Amino acid sequence: MAEPPAFLSAQDVGSFAYLTIKDRTPQILTKAIDTLHRHRSEFFEKHGEEGMEAEKKAISLLSKLRNELQTDKPILPLVDDCADADLWNKYLEDQQSLLSEGAGKARWFYSPWLFVECYMYRRIHEAIIQSPPIHDFDVFKESKERNFFESQESVIALCTHLQESLRPVEDPDDDQLKKEFFKLLQISLWGNKCDLSLSGGESSSQKINVISVLEDLKPFILVNDMEHLWSLLSKWKNTREKASTVRVDIVLDNSGFELVTDLVLADFLLTSNLATEIHFHGKTIPWFVSDTTIHDFNWIIEQMKQSNHKWMSKCGADWENYIKTGRWIYKDHLFWTLPHPFCAMPEVAPDLYAELQKVCLVLFKGDLNYRKLTGDRKWEFTTPFHQALRGFHPAPLCSIRTLKAEIQVGLRPGQAEELTASEPNWLTTGKFGIFQFDGPL
Ligand code: F6P
Ligand code: MG
Repeated sequence: MAEPPAFLSAQDVGSFAYLTIKDRTPQILTKAIDTLHRHRSEFFEKHGEEGMEAEKKAISLLSKLRNELQTDKPILPLVDDCADADLWNKYLEDQQSLLSEGAGKARWFYSPWLFVECYMYRRIHEAIIQSPPIHDFDVFKESKERNFFESQESVIALCTHLQESLRPVEDPDDDQLKKEFFKLLQISLWGNKCDLSLSGGESSSQKINVISVLEDLKPFILVNDMEHLWSLLSKWKNTREKASTVRVDIVLDNSGFELVTDLVLADFLLTSNLATEIHFHGKTIPWFVSDTTIHDFNWIIEQMKQSNHKWMSKCGADWENYIKTGRWIYKDHLFWTLPHPFCAMPEVAPDLYAELQKVCLVLFKGDLNYRKLTGDRKWEFTTPFHQALRGFHPAPLCSIRTLKAEIQVGLRPGQAEELTASEPNWLTTGKFGIFQFDGPL
């Protein structure tokens, strides 16, 4: 196999990777420090003096981290004893050995962007867990919750659509189902605009009713393989034995509004019989500011259930029921918060790969998952998606992502050039999106 292209890296001055490491990540660290500071009295109330000491310790570790990053110091091995620390340190050693002789140590601005950015979130986690008794404090929790509350109107519109327009249609024909499936897929796509790491942790909620603007957003879908998804799932629906399982997995991205769009899609997949079981994959630690942890997942369902709005609370109650009856299953695995591209999964997390091999379709939400699918490398825009996956083919899969990093494959010849001419920042603003499928039909 030909050597793949180089990784994106902050060493390309002026690139999005460079700007992220130079500007956005220190900003995220500063916010995390502020958050800890603002919770000082809460730590005191809960844990007394020990809580105050822990807050000081976590802040000093985060300030040290920010300084290492801003002064481009060598990347340090992890020192905590979490289950993944050895894997991280091995990866760091591998990065080190890839450097040419005389290049010195792997550093923030001279290592692959994917590695460095993931490493920063893992170091935030290290700082917090090394500061008991506040070791389970999520520095991003507040902003994730704010995103959900600020998106209330859109959440209500979505739940109302699900409960009033979709539920009452008895025995919908395939055309109706397909139309609705496409609608909910697109809502889930545009829900991915709302991640908080792109906005440096600032609010990025959904304030307009996304259902009403779907048609206007269609031209911004650069790769649209929705038809493949429909063919695959409708074929299963129409040919499977009565009791057989059709499992769809969703590798989740952001909590808040995006998670609600994913849950609405998952609800529809079950109730329309396009799938019989949905497995959600979340993160074991706070990640890229807004990514979903088990706490966020349960919190959102509980908020929905407690809502005063009848359709929101109906959704919450239904979703809780799906979980209780095992039709929805939430899982996490430490592989999702490692720096490895997904092509390394068979070697690094064979159990997870084997699990995904059982699935009819895997949906990968969001930009970071796309970067990991494609290895975050400088591929030509016309490289086939299958090739960029570099052997990662556990099951038919689809990336549902708005573009927030300078990487895209599978475009038509000339398409990228046209975009660059009309929208120079098309790769990074989240304005454009894709449904990119790989797998046999
Ligand atoms: O910090 C930038 C980034 O790494 C971008 O790749 C992307 O915009 C974001 O973080 C994560 O996006 P998502 O939540 O869609 O994975
Ligand atoms: Mg995210």
